[in-house]
Amino acid sequence: MDELLGMSIGGAIFSGNSSIEDEIDRLSIKIEEADVHLREKGRDDADGYGWVNLPYQDLTKIIETADWLARFDAIVQIGIGGSALGNRMLVNALLPPFYNELEAPLRRGPRFYLLENSDPATAAAVLNRIDVSKTAFVVVSKSGSTTETIAHFLWVWQIVRDKLGNKAQEHFLVITDPKKGALRKFAKATGCRSLGIPESVGGRYSVLTSVGLATAAAVGIDIEKLLLGARQMDQRLAMRQQIWENPAWALAALNVIHARLGRNMAVMMPYGDGLLAFAEWFAQLWGESLGKNGFGTTPVRALGAIDQHSQLQLYMEGPDDKLITMIDVQNRPGFELPRKIEDDVLREFDFLCDKTLGDLLSIEARSTASALIKAGKPVVYLKIPEISERYVGALVFFYEYVTALVGLLMDINPFDQPGVEQGKRYIYSLMGRPGYQEYESEVEKYFGICSKFEIIV
Ligand code: PA5
Repeated sequence: MDELLGMSIGGAIFSGNSSIEDEIDRLSIKIEEADVHLREKGRDDADGYGWVNLPYQDLTKIIETADWLARFDAIVQIGIGGSALGNRMLVNALLPPFYNELEAPLRRGPRFYLLENSDPATAAAVLNRIDVSKTAFVVVSKSGSTTETIAHFLWVWQIVRDKLGNKAQEHFLVITDPKKGALRKFAKATGCRSLGIPESVGGRYSVLTSVGLATAAAVGIDIEKLLLGARQMDQRLAMRQQIWENPAWALAALNVIHARLGRNMAVMMPYGDGLLAFAEWFAQLWGESLGKNGFGTTPVRALGAIDQHSQLQLYMEGPDDKLITMIDVQNRPGFELPRKIEDDVLREFDFLCDKTLGDLLSIEARSTASALIKAGKPVVYLKIPEISERYVGALVFFYEYVTALVGLLMDINPFDQPGVEQGKRYIYSLMGRPGYQEYESEVEKYFGICSKFEIIV
């Protein structure tokens, strides 16, 4: 069991299989090399590796922009993938549940909405909930050309301009590449506020840049503490130069070994509603970074204890094709169950008295881990003391580190996503973007052989 910033990884990671321990030892030289490579490339700020330096960045400009954002009643962030999932994760973990429904002082900043999917129902619902003249629109796209984001942006820009005329740009913040792209040109042309995303940081590694931090700070999340947690994690990982002392190395090795053993799914099952969006953020980081060259384990989002009543049967008795990670939280807000049961008919539940709902959740995590291990399934149990800015920052950095190490161990570039491009070309062709007509016949051909059903009753 290795303690790190209060995190512990251990227990059943070996699923009773000592040969995995030997495999880990065998990987240790390669992992050390991968770690050296990662840190060297980070120091050089090489393309894709810039996230390694984010814990040490200067936050002045982001905080100044966040102060401006905080003066609005509502913030609508437009973005998708790495330009939204990190924001969702931070808000889910660090703001109170139902945040937008709260009134000040419980709500410490503007209400916060995300426009991600190009689904008109959500877009219309968001628009109905805001007063455009009191709302800031934050358009986030590293490339400045992602179709879903640009479509939302064009729609919103039109509405705001119709309503506010030449004051419209005073409600827009653009977060994009510091030099290139259509959004950068828009910011220059209109004079609206803008922030840059470091060129060396890719979308899914960008939550600790202006992408995640500007709106987070505006809604009252302490972004200095987020970075402090990431920094402390970085420093502690740097100090551990043995595979059995360094949880990031051990976890990366375990993932590679279990993948080789045919466990081609990585289940992320945090216990606690505040970490639901963490599992979603992880799924993109893991899937887009590692699904290459025929390698990659499919990230599966689960939530304890809810999925004990949904997926667990499959994890217990289905195919042995998963490495299951549980995240448990030591300290949760107190919520005490009754001290004593008065009603005779309910006496059988006496055993719940004097406990808290939080105790129950953690007991469920430990019990479920034990049951899975008894069934011979590999489990990583990861405990954090609390869901706080510092620990979320630490977790973010930890998982980015593990993901990058797994990629490097498998000779994969964890920072590109060539597979996503084909779909983008087809979208452009069907939407009529000049230069992409040639792909239209391909879409017809392949969609033509897709199994199709229509349900009409
Ligand atoms: O990780 C990535 O690079 C992608 O998932 C992007 O975040 C996503 O496609 C959105 O891209 P952009 O920020 O350029 O609009």
